[in-house]
Order: sequence, then structure tokens, then C-alpha cells
Amino acid sequence: MPAVGHPPVLRHRRRDGRRHLARVGEPDFATPWRITEAGIYALEHGHTTYTSNAGLPRLRELICEDLATRYAARYDPGTECLITTGVSEGLDLVLRVLLNPGDEVIVPEPCYVAYEPCVAFAGGTPVRVPTRWEDGFAVDPDVVAAAITPRTKAILVGSPANPTGAVQPREALEGLVRLAEQHDLYLVSDEIYARLTYAGGHTCLGALPGARERTVLLGGFSKAHAMTGWRVGWVCAPAAVAELAVRVHQYTMLCAPHVSQLAAVEALSGPDDDVAAMVADYDRRRRVFVKGLRETGLDCPEPEGAFYAFPSIRSSGLDSETFAERLLHAEHVAVVPGSVFGPSGEGTCAAPTRPRCRCWRRRSCGSTGSWAPCARR
Ligand SMILES: Cc1ncc(COP(=O)(O)O)c(C=O)c1O
Repeated sequence: MPAVGHPPVLRHRRRDGRRHLARVGEPDFATPWRITEAGIYALEHGHTTYTSNAGLPRLRELICEDLATRYAARYDPGTECLITTGVSEGLDLVLRVLLNPGDEVIVPEPCYVAYEPCVAFAGGTPVRVPTRWEDGFAVDPDVVAAAITPRTKAILVGSPANPTGAVQPREALEGLVRLAEQHDLYLVSDEIYARLTYAGGHTCLGALPGARERTVLLGGFSKAHAMTGWRVGWVCAPAAVAELAVRVHQYTMLCAPHVSQLAAVEALSGPDDDVAAMVADYDRRRRVFVKGLRETGLDCPEPEGAFYAFPSIRSSGLDSETFAERLLHAEHVAVVPGSVFGPSGEGTCAAPTRPRCRCWRRRSCGSTGSWAPCARR
């Protein structure tokens, strides 16, 4: 299993100590203050105990209401929703619940680095299917169909995607649902970036006709609410799957952190302007960043979601590893070679779309609270 992080970047970082452009998957905003305050209030009032294994009922209700309002995806908070310690735990849980040893899971790549290891940890075999830069990394259901065998148990897809920023077209997702129906497969849908879509709305896989009974939805608070360190996410799934996921969760994690769950209640029940402001800022910076990349001669599609750009580096004549290493040593800019995310990522590199550095610890550095650059960085 490869270590997380790109080894040349880690070595260089240790040697040179400078800050680099790439911070893996991390929003560069502080958690909105109203949410942090809810966490502080929870601590002050002694909410430092376990919660029920499935998580706070109020939080499950809010998550299900949010899914119904935004995407017309309907889940019962009592039997079909589980609060997890981030999507990371949710992914691990559901794969352990769904897979028997040797079951195959189709994983369109390039994809988030945890997908294949989590399938393997659950005793399954990840089966990569390629997607193409030229097609905006849209999944081709015919290519997926060709990879289905009698051992195939599930298709695992993330949209919007890390690291490509691709948003799967609705037709591609509908094609996957049809395949799942034909071959009796599960669909595991990582929608952690659902709120970070820029061109058009998000299509929730669980809301597509025919999908609900075979779809496991994963979501969380890390990205849109800038809550990575709070470790809170959720799984919504048909009751039979959710019940088994709660069972594994109760023996391995017991529950997600109580304080974080209360902060997440505030995230979903309070005013939404802070999320909207962050999304608007990511959107603006994504366009600035892509424009800059194009000006340097790199061909880069505008990412439709998340906060990553995935330019082609073919014009450099270098493979993605060499490109990333040379950029690191010559310019002290860290990007991740696209090949790290699967063979279809060769000829590309991944970078977060954040061309300027902002203070994400505004309270500790003493700045005024406007999102001004931090003098301490
Ligand atoms: C696609 C994707 N899924 C899941 C995760 C992990 O999310 P969490 O912080 O909720 O565990 C990440 C983090 O970068 C991600 O990019």
C-alpha cells in the first residue's frame, strides 16, 4: 500500500522548509465562526460523552432534510442514516459491509487515493476503468459494462471528484444506475464535494430513478463547511445496509465525536451565507488559477467542482513524475503527478486551485477576522 503523500514533495519539504502550493484536500478557510462557537458551547456544557451509535438524532434529521430539500433524495433519519468519523470512516464501513473476500469493485480512475486501498482492506479487488482527460473524465457506461464480471459487487464513484474536479454528467450516472440494475450491483457514491459545484447543480446519485435501493451515499462536513479536523461525515443507505454499517461502527468507532456532531448540527441549521461565500471564493479562484495555467501554456479544463485543477502537461514532453519533480526543484511549487491517481492520470498533474495564501487560523494569529492574508505565514 503506498504511503499517503508524494515522496519527492515530502523529502523536499523537509529539506527546504518552505511552504508549497499543494495542501492535500484541505480547505484554506477556517471553520465558520458560528460552527466553531457551537463546538465551544458544547464543550462548555459538558457534551463530552458518547452519543448513540448512529449519531445524534437531530443531526440525522437535518442531514436527511438537507438531502430531500436540495436533491429530492429521501432517506429515513431513524433507519437509513449514520453519522461517521468523516467520509473516510463511512467509506471503510460500507465497503466492509458490502464486500465478501474476492468481490470486485469497479473504480473509474483517476480517482481519490483512498478508494482502491479501502476496497482492498475490505477484502475486495478494485477493478480500474479508465476515463479520459479529453472527455472531462466522464465515466463511459460502456467501458464500465465491459469490466463487469460475475464477481462484481459494486461501482464506486466520486462526483465532484478529487483530483480532477470533474462533475459526472447526469447521463453517465443514469448509465451506471442502469448497469447496476441489470447486474444487481451496489453503487457507492462519494458526494463529499456536492456543495462545491460551479457550473449547474449537483446530481445526487441516490435521487436518480432506480438508484435508491442500491445506492450508498457518502457525505460530510470537511469540505463545504471547512471542518476537516472535526471529523464528521455521514452514510445514507437502504436500511439493511445502514443497519450493518452501524453494527461495524459500534464496535470499531462507537460514535463520531459528540462535540463535532453538535457543531455539525449548527452547520446545517444556521444561516448558509458562509458556505455560499466560500463557494463563491473557490469559484473565483478556480477561474484565476486556470487562466494562469493556460497562460503558462498548460491546457486545463475548468474544473466544474471541488477545488482542484488537473491540467495536461503533455506540452512539456515530460511524464507526470518528472514534471512534478522538476517543478518542485526549480520553482518550489508542489503538484501531485496525475499518475498517482491511476494510469489515466498520466500526462497530467493535480494542484489545488488556491493561488493565494489566506489565513486559516485567523483567531490565533490575531488578524481582524476579514479574510486578509496572514502576516505570520
Ligand atoms: C473525494 C474525497 N472523499 C473523502 C475524503 C475524506 O473526507 P473526510 O475528511 O470526511 O474523511 C476526501 C478528502 O480529501 C476526498 O477528497
